[in-house]
Amino acid sequence: MFQLDAHPSGRHFLQIPGPTNVPDRVLRAMDQPTIDHRGPEFARLTLEILDGLKGVFHTTGPVIIYPASGTGAWEAALVNTLSPGDHVLMFETGQFATLWRAMAERLGLVVDFVPGDWRSGIDPAVVEARLIQDRAHACKAVLAVHNETSTGVTTDIPAIRKAIDRAGHPALFMVDTISSLASIDYRHVDWGVDVTVAGSQKGLMLPPGLSFNAVSDKAISASKHAKLPRSYWRWDETIAMNRQGYFPSTPATNLLYGLHEALAMLREEGLPAVFARHQRHAEATRRAVRGWGLELLCRNPAEYSGSLTAVLMPEGHDADALRREIHARFDMSLGTGLGKVAGRVFRIGHLGYFNDLMLCGTLCGVEMGLALRNVPHDKNGVAEALAWLQASGPPTATKAQRRAA
Ligand SMILES: Cc1ncc(COP(=O)(O)O)c(C=O)c1O
Repeated sequence: MFQLDAHPSGRHFLQIPGPTNVPDRVLRAMDQPTIDHRGPEFARLTLEILDGLKGVFHTTGPVIIYPASGTGAWEAALVNTLSPGDHVLMFETGQFATLWRAMAERLGLVVDFVPGDWRSGIDPAVVEARLIQDRAHACKAVLAVHNETSTGVTTDIPAIRKAIDRAGHPALFMVDTISSLASIDYRHVDWGVDVTVAGSQKGLMLPPGLSFNAVSDKAISASKHAKLPRSYWRWDETIAMNRQGYFPSTPATNLLYGLHEALAMLREEGLPAVFARHQRHAEATRRAVRGWGLELLCRNPAEYSGSLTAVLMPEGHDADALRREIHARFDMSLGTGLGKVAGRVFRIGHLGYFNDLMLCGTLCGVEMGLALRNVPHDKNGVAEALAWLQASGPPTATKAQRRAA
């Protein structure tokens, strides 16, 4: 059998910001015989999943499931709604915004890409100003990444919606929630989003391999006239067949078993408690970073991410050398610096299936790694985080208390 790690005992710490740790409950749910995807049991499975997903996306409209990574859902969002030569407005918040832009250009869209410093979210004032200038309404869509996984910086999505409305602009609004859905509060309908893009391997606690488009009526209307070529990614056939619980092509049956179980887990914990748990672990992590005397990449506290923290290395110290040391010594994976911040930051993922002591282990590994690599730091990081975890208490009732309630 393929050897998954070279360490003789204990569990690997997967602390990259996705894929995240898959709960044993989800693994067990997937470990069942694959069934006929045209049979009656399968239709029940699909309909229950689609119903559960609506709660997670906070939508009443369709959610399309693709057997693809998040990149597929990015493409689906664009090709279903836009036509060659259409203008779109995007913002350089980090590596994922940059990659989505590259895809848009490859597909023949004209991207107005507002430069950014990789340390801040999108400024709603800039959105408003750009759209007011566009009197002819050439811009067909505003695209935003809710949580930039490369930087640990969030964008205030309701504020962007308000900016589009203040400008009186009809552009579609598309949001990438790949590292925020089911980790950070997000509302597709209330926040006026037309296409929400998501993936399975982060807050949804599944392995990689599924991705999603939640779509508004306005997006569906746009898809009826959009001219970008599309076949596999078409929404209309999937939406039509989903009504009976089926898919136009073979779905990822066993990942759907896992999704069914993950949705049950999210329901049991309750989304507000899930979000509070993520915020509390993010705060503990930031306290650790400050306790080490290191700098957060995210500049603005209002934009701190609940799902990951990107940490800047002191000048002259390589973040990847630190990550390699920690992996070799403690069997823990941390996120690498991507794109413009490669080598300068490492990222601590604290999202998905996660608890206090997993975070303690993670932060201990980082603190020991800093010492082993002779990275200048104070020894107060773990102590600060532990003090916060102890003082802030569990964010919600225990499972037994919830069952009793
Ligand atoms: C915010 C964001 N968008 C898009 C992607 C691309 O998704 P995938 O790698 O699943 O194709 C990722 C991947 O981590 C991401 O974090």
